[in-house]
Amino acid sequence: MSGTKPVAPLGSPAPATPPAPLAPLIVARHLNKTFERVADGRGTDAVRDVDLTIQEGEIVCLVGPSGCGKTTLLRIIAGLDRPTSGEVALRGKAIDGPGAERGMIFQSFALFPWRTVRRNIEFGLEVRRVPRMERHRISSDLIDLVGLQGFAGAHPRELSGGMQQRVGLARALANDPAVLLMDEPFGSLDAQTRNLMQTELLKIWERTRKTVVFVTHSVDESVFLADRIVLLTARPASVKTIVEIGIPRPRDRASPEFAAIRQRVLRDLTEEVLKGMAQQDRPGAVE
Ligand SMILES: Nc1ncnc2c1ncn2[C@@H]1O[C@H](COP(=O)(O)OP(=O)(O)OP(=O)(O)O)[C@@H](O)[C@H]1O
Ligand SMILES: [Mg+2]
Repeated sequence: MSGTKPVAPLGSPAPATPPAPLAPLIVARHLNKTFERVADGRGTDAVRDVDLTIQEGEIVCLVGPSGCGKTTLLRIIAGLDRPTSGEVALRGKAIDGPGAERGMIFQSFALFPWRTVRRNIEFGLEVRRVPRMERHRISSDLIDLVGLQGFAGAHPRELSGGMQQRVGLARALANDPAVLLMDEPFGSLDAQTRNLMQTELLKIWERTRKTVVFVTHSVDESVFLADRIVLLTARPASVKTIVEIGIPRPRDRASPEFAAIRQRVLRDLTEEVLKGMAQQDRPGAVE
């Protein structure tokens, strides 16, 4: 079973060789999702005709108005929801359920309150029957990587929000996934912790070069993090524009280039937010 596959050491520095040419990791074609309502048999269209290719090693931010279908799209990639039609594949293999190669990180942290930091991080490894010594080595590496030294034996209730989200990140990384799927992971953190966590995430990304698909409401966050921003329309989510961010990292939020991209994304997003609000105002339009 795939669970016995050795886990690559994490946290090793990226090789000094130039980055490999981009290769597609996730390819979504004509994705549609309609939620059927049991009460009256009518449906809610959440995703419409999404075509998206995500390259190995890139950070893609999905940005869109509230309720437009971002989480639904991410859950389809995670294999937690099935599309009504269309397909999504990872390295050419159709996604038809959750898998260890896709690590999901939720806004609500979703940690096990009765488990310590270390045992939260080791959860997926236990499921995959990785031997205890190996689990310990991996969780120790990850505790270092996410900056939780000294907290291995603490329980989630003893940690701040930022620290809990570090555990969530480490737990997802423990399976050595091909991609991290992050659903507004820093949304509940205060502004300072949020900025700090963005910088931490980039440091971890520089060391692991994991592909990241990151859902956020925050245009500022997306311009700071992303290689590409995929701006989604008001519900049902479809791809409105894709913005490449060519600014080298670390990015300066106060720079004119940063401001120019933020402005552009904000303009497109506002257009969609207004459309979404108009939909809600129209009687019967929110089916
Ligand atoms: N399990 C479900 N059953 C029925 N409808 C659902 C379900 N999940 C989502 N929806 C509907 O699909 C639409 C998109 O929801 P989704 O959670 O994907 O949006 P979102 O962009 O992530 O929103 P937010 O910005 O508030 O997180 C909404 O109208 C929501 O009510
Ligand atoms: Mg959501």
